[in-house]
Amino acid sequence: MLQDKITQYTAEINAFLTEKADELEQFRIKFLGTKGIIKDIFDEFKAVSPEEKRTLGKVLNEFKQLAEAKYQTLKDQGGVAEVSTDAGIDLTLPGEGFEIGARHPLALVRREIIEIFNKLGFIVAEGPEIEDDWHNFSALNFPEEHPARDMQDTFFIKKGGEKGDIALRTHTSSVQVRMMEAGKPPFRAIMPGRVYRNEAISARAHCFFHQVEGLYVDENVSFADLKQTLFYFVQELYGEGTKVRFRPSYFPFTEPSAEMDISCTICKGAGCQMCKYSGWVEILGCGMVDPNVLENCNIDSKKYSGFAFGMGIERIANLKFEIKDLRLFSENDARFLKQYKTSLI
Ligand code: PHE
Repeated sequence: MLQDKITQYTAEINAFLTEKADELEQFRIKFLGTKGIIKDIFDEFKAVSPEEKRTLGKVLNEFKQLAEAKYQTLKDQGGVAEVSTDAGIDLTLPGEGFEIGARHPLALVRREIIEIFNKLGFIVAEGPEIEDDWHNFSALNFPEEHPARDMQDTFFIKKGGEKGDIALRTHTSSVQVRMMEAGKPPFRAIMPGRVYRNEAISARAHCFFHQVEGLYVDENVSFADLKQTLFYFVQELYGEGTKVRFRPSYFPFTEPSAEMDISCTICKGAGCQMCKYSGWVEILGCGMVDPNVLENCNIDSKKYSGFAFGMGIERIANLKFEIKDLRLFSENDARFLKQYKTSLI
């Protein structure tokens, strides 16, 4: 009886031919599966008489090998993927991927700013975060008693060096001084970097933040050049149609000085929480370099003029990504950071 079955199935196996993966899988399940024919036959074999076992055992093994070989051959020929095994492992499942990191939102914005100014011919200049009084204040025309020199704003490190008290720089204007001292006009550069101010940490203030300042010094540089440069910058960064306006302001190192507002990037001027329902948001300070500053850096202020500007990267990022709490930038919470995935590397 068992012999008859084996003969019949042997014929079936020999005749079987397919190029289709699903048919081959049916074949596998039918003969080689956990509830398949071979399993049944082996179960039946347990019940046969000892004499029969002797002859049938060999036949049975050959039959099993035939089914396995057939399956293997067809699989190899057809290039059919291994779909599953009796152990329940599906080898076609994709492996575990590894996560690709994300750029910090401030790094993304900084790079975007640099790229825009690069197109206008501005190079990147850098300087030390630990500065002396001369580069951070005096050369920039800060009066002796100016409140920015006060202990409340500045982290002082050491009293009385060769060029005055040593402190953590409060702005990257110090890099402008270093650049002008070291070279000859024309200067066209931006200065990205970290700056420090002695403020209580809250959602809106931090004891350090990041700036990009800019400087352009040459013959006949005018306020019109300043306006057009910053107008171009804003169109590139926030899109065409973004409006700008300048309000008179004061900085010791520029004269005249201005603050620049742009039409709110969130509500487009209609009024929202971000712009406090005014339609405008302030993004930077700017002005014509004060002749005193040029002279302090040994540049002839009769021959040369220039403009400067400075902005906080956090502020720019805030308007781009609507990040309302400054503290998020330095907490390194991966859930926050990985939202800003980019195709740029
Ligand atoms: N240094 C100024 C600040 O830190 C910004 C600024 C730079 C303003 C250049 C005018 C010109 O706030």
